[in-house]
Amino acid sequence: MKITVITGSPHKDGTSALLTEKFIKGAKEAGNDVFRFDAAFEDIKPCLGCGHCRVNSSACVYNDSMNKLNEKLIPADMVVFVTPLYYFGMSAQIKAVIDRFYANNCKLMESNKKAILMATAYDSNTGTMQSLEEHYKRIVHYLKWENAGVLLATGCGTRGDIEGTDYPNQAYKMGKNII
Ligand SMILES: Cc1cc2nc3c(=O)[nH]c(=O)nc-3n(C[C@H](O)[C@H](O)[C@H](O)COP(=O)(O)O)c2cc1C
Repeated sequence: MKITVITGSPHKDGTSALLTEKFIKGAKEAGNDVFRFDAAFEDIKPCLGCGHCRVNSSACVYNDSMNKLNEKLIPADMVVFVTPLYYFGMSAQIKAVIDRFYANNCKLMESNKKAILMATAYDSNTGTMQSLEEHYKRIVHYLKWENAGVLLATGCGTRGDIEGTDYPNQAYKMGKNII
């Protein structure tokens, strides 16, 4: 399977980075072709909402790292979103990427993909991840993709926290089970 992993954390060695690494390790061991896109370290301009992309199927007015991502995103069989929880939602870095899906909405809707959400958060209260999960599921439903799973690592504010949990192992198994 062709898998595109999009991450949203500015921490190269943070909690969600650990889930990303473990997931990719498992997915590669299972024979999948994985492309990783770290939005926080790419040039992604926020959507202007100018509508240029909707006029005669024109391209986006921006010429940035979305070009590189789109080459892998459009043909992908699966898209994995990995984000830290920021104010009950995804980080701005990954949201900016999703907003830029707008230029390829039709192609993405027709592409029959599967999706996974992996997220980390400091808190572990009931409902900590509720709005993020609902938002993710609404996006996946809108795009006519299939939700293939969520891994919500609550109580994981630091690398030390998450290393003491089973979440990294769960991320590895999620990747390993993809065929
Ligand atoms: C701007 C910002 C907003 C945050 N909002 C929340 C939040 O709403 N709930 C929560 O439990 N943790 C929140 N956190 C904590 C992070 O989700 C948590 O530390 C996470 O493990 C960071 O992931 P990373 O190491 O992959 O960047 C926030 C952190 C930042 C910097």
